Amino acid sequence: HTCILVGAPVDTGQRQPGCLMGPDAYRTAGLATSLEELGHQVIDTGNVTFEDRGETAPDPKLLHWSETIAWTQALADVAETAIGQGLPIFLGGDHSMAAGTVTGVKRAADAQNRPQFVLWLDAHSDFHTPISTATGNLHGTPVAYFTGRDGFEGFPKFGSPVPDENVCMIGLRSVDSAERDALQQSEIRRHDMREIDESGIAKPLAAFLDRVAAANGMLHVSLDVDFLDPSVAPAVGTTVPGGATVREAHLVMEMLHDSGLMTSLDLVELNPFLDERGRTATLMVDLAASSLGRKIFDRPTRSHL
Ligand code: ARG
Ligand code: MN
Ligand code: MN
Ligand code: MN
Repeated sequence: HTCILVGAPVDTGQRQPGCLMGPDAYRTAGLATSLEELGHQVIDTGNVTFEDRGETAPDPKLLHWSETIAWTQALADVAETAIGQGLPIFLGGDHSMAAGTVTGVKRAADAQNRPQFVLWLDAHSDFHTPISTATGNLHGTPVAYFTGRDGFEGFPKFGSPVPDENVCMIGLRSVDSAERDALQQSEIRRHDMREIDESGIAKPLAAFLDRVAAANGMLHVSLDVDFLDPSVAPAVGTTVPGGATVREAHLVMEMLHDSGLMTSLDLVELNPFLDERGRTATLMVDLAASSLGRKIFDRPTRSHL
């Protein structure tokens, strides 16, 4: 692959400062070298900047509404271009950035007449609307945006949103009641930690990958640091106990590689200010490497099961 690194120092989707240092932490942890060692070409396009047009929020509870619109526009444009040049890896930045990255890759998929799928690896569903959010933190809303829910006046418009049934969430363990109700009424595929405990993480992922492959879909993967258990990934503002283990997370990424289906990747919510000697940044880099071909041994087959 040609891997296109896109820095997205987005810090405005939540209240804890620090995610803006994420892109540089991934660079410091050696992301480019790790991917080059796997035989990929790596182009680091630097960090995206945006132009804030001073939009007024529909409700004062919404934090940094205007900046989030500006980031969404800027990242959508960059993502749409980058996906024509290789496999973009978006270095966050908090999860509000996914409103932009998914919008951009969806436009590119539409242009190629291919369906867009999204794998959401997260403790949270990030399925609030600007109306339902209690915190006003817009990192809790990107899935509602790119699946076409109401309340995002002033945000970039889609030709068509990502269909619910093309979204698969794995790792859920912190879902607010408004999100829960909305999810249960949606066709979004959702796999909580209990399901992972009971049947393992490979099963729901394999089923989803089969659907992506059958549809010749494009697959955007959005990996939130808090998908991981905080004992192995402390550098995130929204830690939730009971998350994925190091091996569960690597298995997901290894299966993604073997499937050959991933077309873009977000690494989000890393807050380097909260890290311990870079261990979370290093783990995220290692997971990215697994999704791009790092493995323990060669496998006899390339099947994802
Ligand atoms: N549901 C909570 C909220 O709306 C937490 C969202 C956490 N999202 C994240 N991307 N870490 O504020
Ligand atoms: Mn503001
Ligand atoms: Mn998230
Ligand atoms: Mn999360």
